[in-house]
Amino acid sequence: MEITDAIKQRRVVKEFKQDPVPDDILYRIIESARWAPSPFNTQPWEFIIIKNRKTLKKLAKCAPMHECNAPMAIAVVILPITARYPFHQQVGEPEHAGAMAVQNIMLTAWELGIGTAWATIEKDKVKQILNIPDEFDVLTVIPMGYPLVEPSMHEETDRLPVEDLMNFEEFTGISEGRIMVY
Ligand SMILES: Cc1cc2nc3c(=O)[nH]c(=O)nc-3n(C[C@H](O)[C@H](O)[C@H](O)COP(=O)(O)O)c2cc1C
Repeated sequence: MEITDAIKQRRVVKEFKQDPVPDDILYRIIESARWAPSPFNTQPWEFIIIKNRKTLKKLAKCAPMHECNAPMAIAVVILPITARYPFHQQVGEPEHAGAMAVQNIMLTAWELGIGTAWATIEKDKVKQILNIPDEFDVLTVIPMGYPLVEPSMHEETDRLPVEDLMNFEEFTGISEGRIMVY
């Protein structure tokens, strides 16, 4: 699959078959995460693979908008880089890098026929459930599995037109109607 096709075709998936994701597929997905860029190549991430049913149920309760029945999930833990790169830490770069790793995960999973979603989580609760120390952040928990139904293609109108997003040389304002998105 071309990367541009994966980018355009990927859909958020919230309903899953219960078939397990094979370990070799999971390995390929995490392999793609490790190649994401990060500040000074600090690679400030760890991935927790969760398959335990009880833990998954507890986690689902920490993502109010995201009740789902995934057979597994990946929690993305972010390590601080304060000691060596305080400015980068202060402006949130480890989390930005983590989000880039998540995108790699989502696109590779999609290429391999696996559905994912970004769940907005109650971080303190997730950290407690997964035994993540206070000094680390948890970015998201990604539910993952084979989609229950074939995801539909995006409509062209699912995203704003390119012309509406482009500014030249300086910020020239937002297109009319855009504010309605929020
Ligand atoms: C930072 C972020 C947070 C999100 N939080 C949630 C969420 O809490 N619940 C949910 O169902 N989807 C969540 N999503 C998924 C978006 O709703 C979804 O990506 C968007 O509607 C576009 O759909 P698509 O991914 O199928 O193109 C989130 C996505 C991002 C990038």
